[in-house]
Amino acid sequence: GDVSPQPPFSAIPADLRTLADYERRAEAHLMPEVWRHIQEGAGREITLSENRAAFDRIGLLPRAMARLDGSTEIELFGRRHASPILLAPLAYQRLAHPEGELACVRASTALDTGMVVSTLSSMPLEDIAAAAHAIARDLGKAPAPLWFQLYLQPEREHSLQLVRRAEAAGYEAIVLTVDAALKPAGIRLPPGVDAVNLAGMPRPTQTSVPGGRILLGTPLSDAAPGWDDLAWLREATRLPILVKGLLLGEDAARAVDEGADALIVSNHGGRVLDGLPSPVDLIQTVAEATQGRVPLLLDGGVRMGTDVVKALALGASAVLIGRPQMHALAVAGMPGIAHMIHLLRTELEAAMAQLGCPNRALLGPDRLVALGR
Ligand code: FNR
Repeated sequence: GDVSPQPPFSAIPADLRTLADYERRAEAHLMPEVWRHIQEGAGREITLSENRAAFDRIGLLPRAMARLDGSTEIELFGRRHASPILLAPLAYQRLAHPEGELACVRASTALDTGMVVSTLSSMPLEDIAAAAHAIARDLGKAPAPLWFQLYLQPEREHSLQLVRRAEAAGYEAIVLTVDAALKPAGIRLPPGVDAVNLAGMPRPTQTSVPGGRILLGTPLSDAAPGWDDLAWLREATRLPILVKGLLLGEDAARAVDEGADALIVSNHGGRVLDGLPSPVDLIQTVAEATQGRVPLLLDGGVRMGTDVVKALALGASAVLIGRPQMHALAVAGMPGIAHMIHLLRTELEAAMAQLGCPNRALLGPDRLVALGR
């Protein structure tokens, strides 16, 4: 059969109406190994499927005849987001489209949507910020909030360089990912796709562990974050810090004690340790442990407006979406991303209205019920 992928569309096909439509279409636009890399989960993909199943087990309890004037807007760190939906950090977005992260940031700016740029972005972090400012100028608006996701480097000096570059480029928060240090790279990068932000820095690589000891003295363990690294980062920057990849209340409370300004409850989209529960099933215990001291965000398996509603009702201030970005990029580049965000936001608005909860404040666990599935 024909293995070369279809080029992206320049206009959005009319039959794309949901994120699931984009996902179905995307495979034909991607090299098979790239498609597998995007979609895959760790191990037997128990966690990957749990991320969807946890949403599907939750039912919604609508209030009848409610007033329907409301808003999906939220504020985080003093900045307005048009909705509680942000773009999660994804490595190497040029795997899905030649414009990669630039397509994403233009779409997110056009739609007042926050974007988190990965340490492993395939465009320089400065160019991504510049593209956001350029399109914001063209559109006569402020650029959408941009946050920088930090993977700690084996040398602290290199992590610091990344933080300083992000600050200088106008990024408004640092997202410290703490759950992926021992994750293998996962794909052989095609020509033209690289971790350009890390030029001149040694890369942590997967090495086998000598003598049956657990990861002592390997490059991987050198880059594995510890609590001392969070304390260091807190001293190193005045930007708000989000810790991404916590699941347990105890860790969450400690991260807040150590200066985190927000948390992202996440299992890395089921890509690291198979067998982890879904963030949806854990966020309430995280909320109990942190007592409203910081905003909680959540990611993993968010694909519909009703998923966002459920996350908000369980205590999330916002959600992030991962794989759907790659699907939308592959199918239609920048307009694809913009359309995908628009679809999800429109579904969220409809779901909030239909639930009789047009405001975030009206959404609580009393609007949810366990489905007997
Ligand atoms: C990721 N994720 C991720 N997280 C991070 O902090 N830094 C990164 O560079 C990446 N890279 C990355 C690449 C790809 C292809 C995927 C699918 C995921 C995890 C990501 O931010 C997010 O936590 C999950 O993708 C959320 O789950 P869903 O929306 O993909 O189900």
